[in-house]
Amino acid sequence: MSFDLASRLAARRAEDLYRQRPLLQGPQGPEVVVDGQRLLAFCSNDYLGLASHPEVIRALREGAERWGVGGAASHLVVGHSQPHHQLEEALAEFTGRPRALLFSTGYMANLAAVTALAGRGDTVLEDRLNHASLLDAGLLSGARFSRYLHNDAASLAARLEKAEGNALVVTDGVFSMDGDIADLPALCAAARARDAWLLVDDAHGFGVLGASGGGCVEHFGLGIEDVPVLVGTLGKAFGTAGAFVAGSEELIETLIQFARPYIYTTSQPPAVACATLRSLQLLQEEGWRRERLRQLLARFREGAAALGLPLMDSQTPIQPLLVGDSGRALRVSARLRERGLLVGAIRPPTVPAGTARLRITLTAAHDAAQVDRLLDALAQAWREAGDD
Ligand SMILES: Cc1ncc(COP(=O)(O)O)c(C=O)c1O
Repeated sequence: MSFDLASRLAARRAEDLYRQRPLLQGPQGPEVVVDGQRLLAFCSNDYLGLASHPEVIRALREGAERWGVGGAASHLVVGHSQPHHQLEEALAEFTGRPRALLFSTGYMANLAAVTALAGRGDTVLEDRLNHASLLDAGLLSGARFSRYLHNDAASLAARLEKAEGNALVVTDGVFSMDGDIADLPALCAAARARDAWLLVDDAHGFGVLGASGGGCVEHFGLGIEDVPVLVGTLGKAFGTAGAFVAGSEELIETLIQFARPYIYTTSQPPAVACATLRSLQLLQEEGWRRERLRQLLARFREGAAALGLPLMDSQTPIQPLLVGDSGRALRVSARLRERGLLVGAIRPPTVPAGTARLRITLTAAHDAAQVDRLLDALAQAWREAGDD
């Protein structure tokens, strides 16, 4: 007896669920070189076009010269350097929270926050479409774990009625595969009515939503008493890498003392923190990036509606086109690629069965002509994939 990996892989192929990694042969940008082909890409999360910004690159280079490359140890040993600390202070100020704590990835920040707060005897309630890292965190916590209907405060309230111990409500701010914004005012009200805490992972809202890029809490005007645990990631609109949790002094100290994904890992390279400090400044000073995104979004949605394409209801840079069948989603994506466009087909288990989709994302680095090219190519690819 041994693990029958060949059959598992064959089954995945047969179901049109096999995943492949496009090989990127140049920097991020609206145009990328993938597997030797120059493509116009609509699938990155570099929403503000900062990942290849010359000043962010310069900050990284200068940071490496000054601080070296590796973090060298965990934060609690000798890996917590001045750029990490400065970035935490800047993120606390940016989010209007007393403190922020830096992590190497969003996946780890989510595991850390949920498992440090909730454990045996407690209850974790999550939106059923939450990001995998949040769902994994809920399972790992050992708390009673249940998923409420998507973005449905009444479904949450019904589950809160039966909650045991301390209750933690967990939601994406902007849903990563759907692009819709969580109804935070209603979710907050339901949580507060039962003395539960709300954790919002705003990986896709930070930098994009709110007048100054403060994300969905700024969009809705919510404070720390509404959202005591706020998670943001830095690999998307910030264009760098890592993540943070922002909240009260006590929350951050609790994470430092008890969060295993914080304690038992090497700190991120300090130069990355230097780069993020620069991108945070750009994100705050250059409001035109958010404005450009809004204009491109309006142009895209108007064009897609005129073509009768089934775009999902989203006001964010994530503009999924619902296909349903995984095979057809792959075919539309392949047809787009033949026309020089890169758009990923997202299939189960990342999304629920029968809801495969093209996850189209726009960035401030795109221009109107590129959006028009996308619309033309979509119109043709959509038709052709239906005829295959
Ligand atoms: C909603 C959400 N949370 C967390 C993460 C994980 O963040 P990271 O890529 O920094 O691990 C992602 C995606 O990467 C995400 O979409």
